[in-house]
Amino acid sequence: MLKLAIDFGTSVTKIYKIGSGIVLAESTCVTVQKETGEIRAFGNEAKRLLGKTAELTDVCFPVYEGEIVNERYAAALLEYFLGKIVRRTFAVEVLFCVPCAASAQLREKYCRVAKSVGLSRVRFAETPYLVALGQDVPLSESNPVFALDIGAGKTSAAVFSLDGVIAGLTMNVGGNNMDVHIIDHIAETYNLKIGSQTSEKLKNTVGSLIPSDNQSTIINGRDITTGNPRSVAVSSSDILFPIRIYADKIAEYAGLVLRKLPAEVSAAMVKNGVFLAGGVAGIAGFGDYMADKLGMEIHVTGDPQMAVVLGGGRAIGNQSLLARIEME
Ligand SMILES: Nc1ncnc2c1ncn2[C@@H]1O[C@H](COP(=O)(O)OP(=O)(O)OP(=O)(O)O)[C@@H](O)[C@H]1O
Ligand SMILES: [Mg+2]
Repeated sequence: MLKLAIDFGTSVTKIYKIGSGIVLAESTCVTVQKETGEIRAFGNEAKRLLGKTAELTDVCFPVYEGEIVNERYAAALLEYFLGKIVRRTFAVEVLFCVPCAASAQLREKYCRVAKSVGLSRVRFAETPYLVALGQDVPLSESNPVFALDIGAGKTSAAVFSLDGVIAGLTMNVGGNNMDVHIIDHIAETYNLKIGSQTSEKLKNTVGSLIPSDNQSTIINGRDITTGNPRSVAVSSSDILFPIRIYADKIAEYAGLVLRKLPAEVSAAMVKNGVFLAGGVAGIAGFGDYMADKLGMEIHVTGDPQMAVVLGGGRAIGNQSLLARIEME
């Protein structure tokens, strides 16, 4: 049986195929004709249209803050992605990577979506476990691990061992909040209206939590007063503020998790540090910033955006391990 791990992210869907590795990373996005509901474009092609479509077309993200908000579009998108990577004559077992403490209701939605695209066996695991697995962190009952997954719409923070989650939190904070705040900040500072694609690209190229960083890039938008197209040069320090607000929120939540820990687990945290994953962990200086705020050692995973699905791949390839960590 063909085995896949799927991380159906708010922003990006990642798929790991046993025997091949990571085979897909595409925007979780479709464009839809408003009147008929017909899907016109999928994945990256759909995302490129964000902010550029005419009135008759909508750009939709069927996963929002970790929740499936539109099952029909989610199923169509999943079918499109599967069509790119597997020949559908095979039976497929799939592990969905879901936020920490994902509700039974959310898992039912995943099951319905999976069934409608012909996936025969569906399993679930929470992202913090998968972050650890992807980094080859030895999991046992006596070795608690702290993992923080910071995505586009959701941040999961959890301390867990093979025995289960000891303390954890999921919050609706992520890269999308930063992008929206950057749009407002650029409007106030430069009197320039920019779109969300421009804002995201700006964050991902020059965004930094290192105050002395001074990379810059040219961005284009619409002058708020004249309405004319205009460009400005924006540097890392110009967008430090809207990024730092959310980094501080994330540190605050991570601190809440730490303060719930029994003493022996706290002691283990001093030794093990925190594993940081999710696309937002790619911001320059993010690891050092968190280390300073939390007073702990931080390990930023190799390719943070792929860390969860990499762990998903490890889990679905190891049935006895999966049996220990999967959500029933
Ligand atoms: N180099 C980078 N610097 C800053 N942010 C980045 C970088 N690369 C990606 N991101 C941001 O990371 C987010 C996507 O990360 P990820 O793929 O982990 O999220 P997701 O899994 O789709 O969302 P969620 O887990 O919240 O459902 C986006 O907000 C994206 O802009
Ligand atoms: Mg994610």
